[in-house]
Amino acid sequence: MPAAAVPETAAAQLRCCGCGALSSEPPPDFHCSHCGDLLEVAYPGWDVSAAPAEQLKRVWRERKMSSSDLDRSGVWRFRELLPIVQAVNEVVTLAEGNTPLYEMRHIARRLGMRALFAKHQGMNPTGSFKDTGMTAALSVARERGYRWVVCASTGNTSASMAAYAARAGMSALVLIPDGKIAWGKLCQALEYGAVTLQLRTDFDGCMSLVTELVRRMPIYILNSINPYRVEGQKTAAIELMEQLEWHAPEHIIVPGGNLGNSSALGKGLLEMHRLGLIPRLPKLSVIQAEGANPLYTCVRERGGRTLVPVKAETMATAIRIGNPASWRKAVRVLEATGGACEQVSEEEIALAKSEIGIEGLGCEPASAVTLAGLKKLLRSGFVQANETVVLLLTGHVLKDPEYSLKFHAGELFDHGGELSAELDARRRPPIQVDASVEAITAVLQTMRREA
Ligand code: F0G
Repeated sequence: MPAAAVPETAAAQLRCCGCGALSSEPPPDFHCSHCGDLLEVAYPGWDVSAAPAEQLKRVWRERKMSSSDLDRSGVWRFRELLPIVQAVNEVVTLAEGNTPLYEMRHIARRLGMRALFAKHQGMNPTGSFKDTGMTAALSVARERGYRWVVCASTGNTSASMAAYAARAGMSALVLIPDGKIAWGKLCQALEYGAVTLQLRTDFDGCMSLVTELVRRMPIYILNSINPYRVEGQKTAAIELMEQLEWHAPEHIIVPGGNLGNSSALGKGLLEMHRLGLIPRLPKLSVIQAEGANPLYTCVRERGGRTLVPVKAETMATAIRIGNPASWRKAVRVLEATGGACEQVSEEEIALAKSEIGIEGLGCEPASAVTLAGLKKLLRSGFVQANETVVLLLTGHVLKDPEYSLKFHAGELFDHGGELSAELDARRRPPIQVDASVEAITAVLQTMRREA
């Protein structure tokens, strides 16, 4: 495949998001040694004149016909926009990215909307969006000669890291909160051979230990404070724009946990805009669970200036995070794109998750906050019914089957809340019947009467 003509000025630098200091030897925890903010990969030469937008689009499209591993990756297909490894042909890839964009017609009709889409990142190789970042950062780790990688995780990062480390023949150390991760995710880390430590703390406790650990040992951190993770994850925004034929939607809505993904997608959007690949910026909005809402209170109550950590509690365990590492990056993205931050209740999450099911899609609870948030943003008028909206579904429905089973059995909530009637109407528990045609038809007749 021909190489796109992106000039050499595209060399990557590590720069502090806060004070702008450049960092040639980044500290192992990727915090700026001057001001403590996070580092990001910066490309000083990038502007509209730097990259021939139409040529890039053509090369990326042509690569879809290629059978090379590099081109079949939905991350490395866009490699001109992530020049972060020396030997691009040696990256560690599982053919990540390339996730489908589905129109959600049933839900759009119910909400009176014109165009609603879901980009399903749960369709990545390990079932979550983390794979797009992992291929990038783990490839950097391997290129730099590391043998061990580590992450703190609510489950998906660890599943992804374990898979990519196995693929690369590297060793993986996983730190997870004891008892608060979904089974599907834990199983994955075990299957891929990671050393899995369940710590008697929450995700935030795991996160502070992991930063401590990498300062003491030659082990590479693969949480999203690693700026190369962000570079990989930003490609989901590029892929999305390509799927929409470069017509930017008015809104993109993502769940917010440690806030790496919102930062990454925002970075992707801003770079595409700067390079002339999209004519205008979509508003990127972040939705949190009410019980894990530090960004929400930071934005709504303190103008985005200070983050007060919370003791996080939500059944959407993927985003059970009270002290998000990338909050400053996320605030900048909200400001730069004009997005909103919203919070949603546990009942709203459960209802939204079951509604996503009617599209034949499904997702894990953390992903469903996007639809729950959209409903609120529609009610407040921030999103207009005639605007195009894309929800980012971040994890596969099979990641957390326990949540689904409890929901349908009516065991998710122990007391009725405001939405209990709506939730009950959506429950489809398995029905035990005798093994006879009569018993089956009797059930169907009852259902027909109730319909
Ligand atoms: N959705 C899912 C399914 C996730 O697993 C996560 C984060 C998020 C949303 C939030 O993304 O942290 O970038 O704001 N999971 C991390 C993990 C924390 O360890 O798997 P974020």
